[in-house]
Amino acid sequence: MSQELFEQLEFQENPLFETIIDDLLEQQYSIVDAFFTASETTQLREHLLAKFEAERFKKSAIGNRTNEEIDKKVRGDYILWIDESRADRVEQLFFQKINALVDYLNRTCFLGILQKEFHYTVYPEGTFYKRHLDTFQNDDRRKLSVVCYLNEDPWPSENGGQLRMYVPDEEKDILPLSGRIVIFESQVLEHEVMEVKASERLSITGWLKTR
Ligand code: OGA
Ligand code: MN
Repeated sequence: MSQELFEQLEFQENPLFETIIDDLLEQQYSIVDAFFTASETTQLREHLLAKFEAERFKKSAIGNRTNEEIDKKVRGDYILWIDESRADRVEQLFFQKINALVDYLNRTCFLGILQKEFHYTVYPEGTFYKRHLDTFQNDDRRKLSVVCYLNEDPWPSENGGQLRMYVPDEEKDILPLSGRIVIFESQVLEHEVMEVKASERLSITGWLKTR
């Protein structure tokens, strides 16, 4: 049997991934609750916090300039890039789930995702990220943005930090609930992180990219 035929026979439709694809086609974004289990989310959060407390994060920047005062008026988050080739056990768990989604998208949608990049993110109280598109640094290879929320339960709406999506004729606010992921078209959907009013907002943010 040829390898190709074998792969076709082996292919298993995945209802969750099919829903994500349908959502993306219909509304340019998809929200999946409990994409990561409570235990996975806790482990990833503890991991993030240990690295943050070890002062390994850097203040995010915009574009190639480095002017912290200007940057802070646009975005106030701190980030730490994750090197998949050096991922530890907890990060491998994260990438296993992400890679399963990427493989599925590549097999069914011909998206041609060949690269990805992910960073840990902390938005301290009082910070935000003004309305923008993810074509930052003129990187037009970014096709899909993926945000995975690692906040502790509960995250009441009084905490702020909603992801606001500017979909045609509507502003859609999404709470950064533990285990939830949001996927959207990086170059199409303008979005914003509303000011964090209480607590700190924790996530892993990334992009699936073409060559
Ligand atoms: C970003 C971004 C959204 C979020 O990092 O570019 O828009 O909900 N993040 O954290
Ligand atoms: Mn963004």
